[in-house]
Amino acid sequence: MNVLILGSGGREHAIAWKLSKSPLLTKLYTAPGNAGTHDLGENIKIGSDDFNAIKDFVITANINMVIVGPEIPLVDGIYDYFQQDEKLINITVIGPSKKAALLEGSKDFAKEFMEKFNIPTARYKTFDNTNLSQAHEFLKTLNPPYVLKADGLAAGKGVLIIDSFEEAIHQLDEMIEKSKFGEASRKVVIEEFLQGIELSVFVLTDGDSYKILPSAKDYKRIGEGDTGLNTGGMGSISSVPFADKAFMEKVEQRIIIPTIEGLKKEELVYKGFIFFGLMNMNGDPYVIEYNVRMGDPEAESVIPRIKTDLLDLFKGVGEQNLNEKNLETNPRYTAAVFLVSGGYPGSYEKGKIISGLNETKDSMLFHAGTKINEDSAIVTNGGRVIAISSFGDTMEEALELSYKNAKLIDFEGKYYRKDLGMDLV
Ligand code: AMP
Ligand code: GLY
Repeated sequence: MNVLILGSGGREHAIAWKLSKSPLLTKLYTAPGNAGTHDLGENIKIGSDDFNAIKDFVITANINMVIVGPEIPLVDGIYDYFQQDEKLINITVIGPSKKAALLEGSKDFAKEFMEKFNIPTARYKTFDNTNLSQAHEFLKTLNPPYVLKADGLAAGKGVLIIDSFEEAIHQLDEMIEKSKFGEASRKVVIEEFLQGIELSVFVLTDGDSYKILPSAKDYKRIGEGDTGLNTGGMGSISSVPFADKAFMEKVEQRIIIPTIEGLKKEELVYKGFIFFGLMNMNGDPYVIEYNVRMGDPEAESVIPRIKTDLLDLFKGVGEQNLNEKNLETNPRYTAAVFLVSGGYPGSYEKGKIISGLNETKDSMLFHAGTKINEDSAIVTNGGRVIAISSFGDTMEEALELSYKNAKLIDFEGKYYRKDLGMDLV
């Protein structure tokens, strides 16, 4: 099979790395990709949301399957775009339909779905400029901190958690009346704050049956002890030690099954990854958010633990016979540590030469913000540069190996968090 992966991050490199081991693969392309995916196939200079250019390429290169990494092309309807074109209709797209992608594209849609199918989540109401005064009344029924969420996609910045009532009212106004997040905050979901520990759970589904992948935890803040600004993710650990059999059984019964059944009842076509952002509250799982793709940096720890041929699983998704496939996973722990550019998530410089990539041992390196420059050197090309991912019999062992190798890779301004996993021991 000829396969095209859309995206350019560590998630896409991890997927490419796994697919490159499949006997079913003929040729692998990534658009636009990075220096890591370049090593495994061919990078194509097309943006992951340029549907017309993707169409031309897919036809020319005789692509059989498109795997969509990031959310934007999914929310923009790439699945439907392929379905509606007679030249593309027979190409498998791994991802949900445009309507199903609203589970990530609209927080109000996701909350309504969860309410309808009795999926445990925080109590909420949605407001816009027609009922703003009622929003103030609703806020009064909640205890601080107050959680305000822009309804639409806001590049991970649309969620505000606010301690004071007055500030919450002010921010609500900024979002709805002053378009703080543009069109995305025309509607705002206000919800109860859930106290607990977060984790990510993923399934791969063909819309009918599903496979549960290993759980993971990502580390979002730039600073140690989970302080400072939010980032795209500073690392991840899989599995999450507290996500034991009993907990995962609750996740499956209360959340995964009702979600899959709900998708069917609503006739929401879904062939791809569902990402459940969960809060563990005293042993009970609640959904914080749905995403309609694999997580990043979770993919960098979860994908290596899949023993089964991932391309064969994707084939099962496309052919709607995923139930006939077996998912085998590696029981060992993995830890992914992200090296990031100095200054990130604020401004940072690009083009720094990355050294030591060949000196690391026994870890997997998943590139994110990297590229090959005019002198054929691998240089930084983004805030999050490279994830170092390692196996271990324990979480500590996996972390130790990633940290050992993190010292060997260098570029000007390199930074990484040294406290991953400490909240879990
Ligand atoms: P994101 O949607 O990824 O920008 O991040 C939202 C983050 O806000 C989540 O990862 C949680 O840490 C936090 N969050 C969102 N909703 C709630 C909630 N209802 N209670 C507590 N924390 C929340
Ligand atoms: N790790 C969170 C995300 O991929 O959105």
